[in-house]
Amino acid sequence: MDTPLFSLDKVSFGYASGEPIFRDISLEIRAGEKVCLLGANGSGKSTLLKILCALIFPVHGRFEAYKQEITENRMEDDHVAKEYHRRVGFIFQNSDVQLFTTRVWDEIAYGPLQMGLSPQEVHQRVEDVLDMLNIQNLRERSPHRLSGGEKKKVAVASVLVLNPEVLILDEPTSGLDPKTERWLTDLLLELNRKGRTIIVSTHNLELAHVISTRSLVLSESHELVCDGCTRDILENRELLMAVNLIDEYCHVHGESEHTHRYTHG
Ligand SMILES: Nc1ncnc2c1ncn2[C@@H]1O[C@H](COP(=O)(O)OP(=O)(O)O)[C@@H](O)[C@H]1O
Ligand SMILES: [Mg+2]
Repeated sequence: MDTPLFSLDKVSFGYASGEPIFRDISLEIRAGEKVCLLGANGSGKSTLLKILCALIFPVHGRFEAYKQEITENRMEDDHVAKEYHRRVGFIFQNSDVQLFTTRVWDEIAYGPLQMGLSPQEVHQRVEDVLDMLNIQNLRERSPHRLSGGEKKKVAVASVLVLNPEVLILDEPTSGLDPKTERWLTDLLLELNRKGRTIIVSTHNLELAHVISTRSLVLSESHELVCDGCTRDILENRELLMAVNLIDEYCHVHGESEHTHRYTHG
């Protein structure tokens, strides 16, 4: 079997300010997978994604990507860090964190310019990605004045322009209208068909169903309680209730008993 793209071996992590979040988490992700990270608010989805993106680092245990151990020390090498972030693209939940220029075209060109590509190559790549995402109309706009959906498109463009092998998206559809959500899921599925590895965090079970074949489930106490086929996990109501991804209560109106189901935000 091929070696995993990402491998966490007994990884523990805690933010400097507080209690440990993860204890002894182990998992592997292979190239070409489409994986969903499912968990309620505060379960640790963003934290785990940031470890995969080498934005934060395990306190104990080992995190490997591309057969190399990823440590803070290693990522201090600018060349290594740039190459890693080119290969592994991260799309933040909040696009405002990601966007920092005053013009969409410059926003998308920033990464390729940082890579040291020639002006012609940068120009070509930016135009290609504007065409691909059908956002030529936004090219002269200020990213910060766009709608939420448009911001997300520009954030996705600024990552796709680097042609990453892995796309990691933190709650990508939160705050998007249904049409933009559909646009994004179609795009991700198409990229996955072309060989890209897709890792998406969400508490939206419908999105998990559409976007992934495998799901990793985090409990509210930050434990990886399940790693399996998304279809099976979505049918496991007991599990989904235990991790607060669905809430169910039974009550009686007159003669009949009703079960109500909510998905949690
Ligand atoms: N920068 C931070 N400093 C301290 N604690 C944090 C920080 N970010 C997140 N946490 C805590 O880590 C836990 C997991 O948070 P997070 O990864 O953001 O969960 P999720 O993305 O699933 O909502 C929560 O208890 C949260 O309060
Ligand atoms: Mg989060």
